[in-house]
Amino acid sequence: MYDPLVRFLSLFIGGARGLEVMWTSVINEMDATSGKKALDVCCGTGVMCARIADVVGADGVVVGIDLSEKMLKGAEKRNRRKDNVRFYLSNAEEISCDDGYFDCASITFGLHEMPHQVRMNVLCEMRRVIKPGGKIVVLDYSYPTNKLVQCLFAIWMFVEGKTAKDFIKRDLSFMIRDAGFNNIKKSVCSYNTVQIVSGVRSGDAR
Ligand SMILES: C[S@@+](CC[C@H](N)C(=O)[O-])C[C@H]1O[C@@H](n2cnc3c(N)ncnc32)[C@H](O)[C@@H]1O
Repeated sequence: MYDPLVRFLSLFIGGARGLEVMWTSVINEMDATSGKKALDVCCGTGVMCARIADVVGADGVVVGIDLSEKMLKGAEKRNRRKDNVRFYLSNAEEISCDDGYFDCASITFGLHEMPHQVRMNVLCEMRRVIKPGGKIVVLDYSYPTNKLVQCLFAIWMFVEGKTAKDFIKRDLSFMIRDAGFNNIKKSVCSYNTVQIVSGVRSGDAR
């Protein structure tokens, strides 16, 4: 059910091509090159994981985590032919892996589903498992600037609910900075309804 819904919603942002542009921008921003260890938090049905797996190749590894068994089943099915992807049922606030294990990490359309404190816990936990100098890339909603798009977006936010409405009022770049990342970079796409924000994990102790 989730994948058809995404396909339907993507019609408002340029269809399959619009989605492709978003996913590719995330991967480019992550610096997920061959041999890297990458984490995708709130991986859902594993769309991002599949793409990252192709880029990191056989010498790399991709770990996808999600709270929903149903989503993970879809993710496993989608990635069944890929040997370099693993999925785990896990709360993103407590990821069972060593500090600094991953080279890079992504979270797409995950943060808007959480209350603010949980979002911050998740970003801090992602920082813990990324090595110093490694990158985080977050893709999520952004408040559009165009009046007409704002009207349509408001309807969608009503459907999405309380946490999404709270999310778009806040500044994602500040959240990522406050979680302990620097070199924050932001871009927007899909009529400004989606933002991609990246940061680099500093080496300093927090
Ligand atoms: C809107 S879906 C996005 C899925 C995928 N990243 C995408 O872009 O299509 C949000 C996902 O976040 C997961 N999620 C929400 N809170 C979570 C948490 N605390 N820990 C792990 N996963 C969580 C949900 O189960 C859901 O699969």
